[in-house]
This record gives sequence, C-alpha cells and structure tokens, in this order.
Amino acid sequence: MTEAARVVRGGGIAWTRGLDTVAGMPDGYGGNLGPEDRLADTYSRWEQKTLLDDPGTTRRIDLVRLLPGFADPGPAYHDSAEECLVLEGGCDIDGEGPVEAGDYFWRPPGWVHAARTRTGFLGLLCQEGVSEGDASGPATRRVRPAEDLGRNALFDDLETAVGPRGWIRRLPTPLMPWVPAVALAPNRGWMRVLDCPRLSVKVLSENRNTGALSLLARFEPGYRDPAARRLGRRLIGYVVSGEIEAGNAALGRGDLIHRPAESAPAALSSPAGAVLFMKVDG
Ligand SMILES: [Fe+2]
Repeated sequence: MTEAARVVRGGGIAWTRGLDTVAGMPDGYGGNLGPEDRLADTYSRWEQKTLLDDPGTTRRIDLVRLLPGFADPGPAYHDSAEECLVLEGGCDIDGEGPVEAGDYFWRPPGWVHAARTRTGFLGLLCQEGVSEGDASGPATRRVRPAEDLGRNALFDDLETAVGPRGWIRRLPTPLMPWVPAVALAPNRGWMRVLDCPRLSVKVLSENRNTGALSLLARFEPGYRDPAARRLGRRLIGYVVSGEIEAGNAALGRGDLIHRPAESAPAALSSPAGAVLFMKVDG
C-alpha cells in the first residue's frame, strides 16, 4: 500500500509544555536529560508542537519555543543529524556559538553541544533519524562532560565527522541570494515537474551523493505546477509565510505537508505567494 500524503495543521496543535515534552521525546532521550531533580525546572521553559514523528526512522520535526532563561540540562550529542531553522529570537550554543532568527544549521551526528537562550527562541527543529545516505543514526541524546563541548564524540576523523552534507554550523539565510529554480533544475531532475519560472530557492544543505537537500523555496504569486505529478522523492514542506495549495488542501503559516515519494500525484499552486522550508529525500 502506498503511503498517503498528509497535511499537519500546526495552528491546530496545542503546545506541549513542561514534563509532558519529556514524556513525548524519542526513546533514546529518556534517562539522558541530566539530573532528574532539575527536569521540571528546565522543561518549564521548553514548549513544542510535534509536526512529524516517524517511528520507523525516529525522524521528527518539532516547532520548539524556548522561554527566556531556558538552558539545556547539560552538554550532549545525538546519534542523528540535527537541523534547525531559527524563526524568532536566538540561542547561544555552547561549543558552537550564537544563532539568531533566519539562521539555519545542519549538525552531523556526534557533535557535543548545549543550548541556552536569554531572549527566547522559536525554531523548527528536526532530527533526521536513521538515514544511511546522510550517515545519520537514530534520534538519541547522550550526555557528555563539559570538556567535550565542540568536539565530536563519535568520530576522530574530521572528514567522517562532518559527513556527506558537511557541518553547516551557522548559515544566515537572509544574506543568501534567491536562486532561480530554472538554474538548478537541470541538475535536480525532480524539480522539473515544478513551475520553475515562478520558483526560487536557497539551498541550505545538500548531499551531493544522494541528492537529498534542505532548502527555502519562494513560490511567486501565481505559481502553479504544470500538471499533477509524482516527485518521485519524499518531500516535506513547512510554510514559513504566505499560502500554498496542494491538491485540494490550502496550507498557511505553520502548516506542514508530507508527501511520500509514491503518494498520489498532486499539483502545487500559490495564488498569493509563499515561502516554505523544504526537505527533499535522496
Ligand atoms: Fe541538540
């Protein structure tokens, strides 16, 4: 049976707060969050909406809101690649440096980090989960001592540690140019089913071995796919701004669409324009 496309209404999901967020974390997080007696205080400043949770790969996408004063319970690394688009506010990440609204990162597995925020933070936080092509393991959290901050706990060899996409530690997306999709489509066949003349993109991270990538996509007003076609790749899109229509579904800011590679063909259109954060699998 083919997996159906899904729309997740971000605005219709209630924020999970406090220790309830801990209860909803992947299996590998339990018991790896630091001292038990500090959990309630730590997670009183962590709120999230889970937009995607794939038990098969442990891939997940959460909208995370950190209240001012939040600090991770301590340094840790993940066996999964971790990816983030900062939407509002910012964080200081020990071992790495600051990130602020508009920044993107792709952190390969193993890098030890700890985040805290003075101003508060809103961001789309993704655990890639098990992906052979992206050399990513399951979504786990493994506690490390402070002297390991900024180091890779899994791999001594730097080339292995940065993985096939590299470590995109801080990419300020507002400073990147919008690249016309027509310039990229010749080397990325899946794009050819799109209305490329009305689409421009910022490629945030890309695996040149598999073709998997994460990007920001700007759909110009009047965008309309030439026909309802299968992309042939899994596509996940989060609406950052504007509105987009996928088949019969209209999506607005905060909504997410998940189209497995073999889901029924659907055409995208955007009468008024939209910006999406998109993940396309290899
Ligand atoms: Fe993390």
